[in-house]
Amino acid sequence: MRQRLLGPGAPAVSLVGYGGMHLSIEGRPPEGQALRVLHAALDAGVTLIDTADVYCLDQHDIGHNERLIAQALASWPSARDQVTVATKGGVVRPAGRWDSDARPVQLRAACDRSLRALGVDHIALYQLHAPDPRVPFAESVGELARLRNEGKIRWVGLSNVSLAQVHEAQAIVPVTSVQNRLNPYFRESLAGGVVRYCAEQGIGFLAYSPTGGGRLTLKVPGHPVLSRIAAGHGVSTHAVVLAWVLAQSPTVIVIPSARKVEHALDSVSAADLELSPADLAAIDGAEFSRG
Ligand SMILES: NC(=O)c1ccc[n+]([C@@H]2O[C@H](COP(=O)([O-])OP(=O)(O)OC[C@H]3O[C@@H](n4cnc5c(N)ncnc54)[C@H](OP(=O)(O)O)[C@@H]3O)[C@@H](O)[C@H]2O)c1
Repeated sequence: MRQRLLGPGAPAVSLVGYGGMHLSIEGRPPEGQALRVLHAALDAGVTLIDTADVYCLDQHDIGHNERLIAQALASWPSARDQVTVATKGGVVRPAGRWDSDARPVQLRAACDRSLRALGVDHIALYQLHAPDPRVPFAESVGELARLRNEGKIRWVGLSNVSLAQVHEAQAIVPVTSVQNRLNPYFRESLAGGVVRYCAEQGIGFLAYSPTGGGRLTLKVPGHPVLSRIAAGHGVSTHAVVLAWVLAQSPTVIVIPSARKVEHALDSVSAADLELSPADLAAIDGAEFSRG
């Protein structure tokens, strides 16, 4: 599969990665199916897997997705050295809710747990899951810088951040990647300049929910403009959306999730799909209602 740099000083990874979230949250598949999906993605050339400590059901299940990924890699020895696993800290799941907790003490404890869950001596890419409004952003990023200095993590990433927060973090620690939502329904990172800035800096922009996520993903197959373009190329509407996201800048990497093998493989097919300038303009100008 085609590759793009994960970030300054970091390796190139497949431009279609895999996001593990749906293998571990509510509605997750049986473990055997989850492992088949991960192995299919690896066999298809995926070399970036995104996870988080909180991809699980609740606080009693923390690390479910990380343990699953560790298991998938352990049973696919050829993949272990070639795959970059990116995890996150800074969110907690009390009673299944998604709450921020990016206090330094929590980030440190979460990082130690993730090291154990992944079964590694250092984490390749550790991302601040989201800024915590109750904690000064510089304190959260400062803890990631300390974890990096101690060798517990190799590269630092940010998620759910504004351009101003990227700048603030860069004054504290080298930023390798930024993971924000980007799809035709949610273009805030384009309008706010985050995507452009990442390209200028060579920072990998990991586009999450690249086909919309949740309910919006279900609307993709019925979209008239996407359907027309997909029919013209003989591909799925999902592949068209992923190709549009990838076309937004040379440092965008998509991390679609899937619980089904055929969906994971369909996502990979987007790596070879070149949309024409007319296709891209048609999607740019089409209506994508979030309603
Ligand atoms: N940093 C953050 O705050 C944050 C937030 C959300 C997500 N993420 C990351 O981004 C990843 C992806 O996000 P997401 O799951 O919200 O959005 P997504 O990848 O846009 O949507 C995932 C859904 O798309 C479906 N799908 C994929 N390919 C398909 C195809 N060819 N045809 C039909 N359906 C298809 C999958 O269905 P099946 O499950 O049925 O296969 C899956 O449920 C997550 O796994 C996670 O790693 C990060």
